[in-house]
Amino acid sequence: MALRKKTAVGGGRRRKARVPRPFGTSVRPLISPPQVRARVRALGRQITRDYAGRTLTVVCVLKGAVFFCADLVRTIDLPLELEFIGVSSYADATESSGEVRISTDVAQPLAGKDVLLVEDIVDTGLTAGFLVSLLQARTPKSLALCTLLEKPARARTHVDIRYRGFVIDDVFVVGYGLDWAGRWRNLPYLGVLR
Ligand code: IMP
Ligand code: MG
Repeated sequence: MALRKKTAVGGGRRRKARVPRPFGTSVRPLISPPQVRARVRALGRQITRDYAGRTLTVVCVLKGAVFFCADLVRTIDLPLELEFIGVSSYADATESSGEVRISTDVAQPLAGKDVLLVEDIVDTGLTAGFLVSLLQARTPKSLALCTLLEKPARARTHVDIRYRGFVIDDVFVVGYGLDWAGRWRNLPYLGVLR
């Protein structure tokens, strides 16, 4: 779903978010909690339909996708197992190299399972691409990628995204799990760091 700036943050009752401003930074709201909820519900319905009659193994990518995934799985009406995979980039903080280290691995074998990988954001696509190859090598019955956000302007490699929440411009977003230097994950909405 493409986001238009005007409709980005919901409704007439626009309250100014009180956000702490360390280091002279501030956050411009981009996607409101009701917008996230509506989109997550729609994705959950679609996933429930697509996997009807099957058991789903959801693999949540730590840490950014935790909030999204926790909300998403509660909208999926299927037998479901939840796994976590933790990655940290070898690169410096600003740019992904795609060379990632697995810091936490899933606890169960994925062979023969219907696996849904849940990411916070596909930016250059290098991290998601790496994870898809890694999980594919474990011979799941099926593997699909679900991401809350996609930044197509920054894509450096093609990754097949089956489910996407929002397509956004080339801006750095924080909140609802996404961080900058480890901060801002606990914002209840998605905002642009400026
Ligand atoms: P990649 O460039 O697609 O490999 O993205 C690597 C990782 O960078 C993502 O999983 C996020 O953790 C992080 N990232 C990319 N863009 C943003 C952003 O706008 N806000 C917060 N984190 C981001
Ligand atoms: Mg991150």
